[in-house]
Amino acid sequence: MRKIVIAGNWKMYKTQSEALEFLQGFKSELEDTPDDREIVLCVPFTDLDILSKMLHGGRIQIGAQNVHWEAAGAYTGEISAPMLTELGVRFVVIGHSERRQYFGETDQTVNLRLKATQKAGLTPILCVGETKQQRDSGETESHIFSQLEKGLVDVDQQNLVIAYEPIWAIGTGDTCASIEANRVIGLIRNKLSNPHVTIQYGGSVKPDNIDEIMAQPEIDGALVGGASLDPQGFARIANYR
Ligand code: PGA
Repeated sequence: MRKIVIAGNWKMYKTQSEALEFLQGFKSELEDTPDDREIVLCVPFTDLDILSKMLHGGRIQIGAQNVHWEAAGAYTGEISAPMLTELGVRFVVIGHSERRQYFGETDQTVNLRLKATQKAGLTPILCVGETKQQRDSGETESHIFSQLEKGLVDVDQQNLVIAYEPIWAIGTGDTCASIEANRVIGLIRNKLSNPHVTIQYGGSVKPDNIDEIMAQPEIDGALVGGASLDPQGFARIANYR
């Protein structure tokens, strides 16, 4: 069975006090959210501990936005998977385009991080997607297939979420047409050995386009950046109709 996963990606936003303020407005909006939807907040490392304590035993899961592949070692500035597990983290975003673009993330390091995440019992959310230039030159499919092929070597597809995030749609308000997102996600699914992997769409998901996105048959959820920062807005996304 394909699970529905609606995940917020807070990026480098919200101090602890801002995170707690968000929760106050958000939690009460989820009372009627159907049980089969997994709701996840992928937050800065500094918010993980307090949110995990506040949400313990509830329906909102906590995710991190990166992880190192070694369990421990001389890697100044890095965080390991066992450190996340101890805090009650359940998901980790891996290979987000911002990490690939600004922090030298490659398909090889993505692959190492995916395996370390799974080894620690966490679920990775692997991000793939093309640039505008790749799309315009007809390289969307080949680029994404290459990201999958290199990223998924020896990765367990029973414990995996994939997010299709066209880079040109991230933070731009220029959402990918839902039919096109559905088409690409169908192609991604065809490349997997496990057809039941949850595949999300990400890129300018908003309260006013989520219903249409989730109506597409191949789309199993959303990875939401900007619109996940507002409690009412993100609740509307979680409560898509
Ligand atoms: P956005 O970001 O919703 O602000 O476009 C999505 C993402 O980067 O995951």
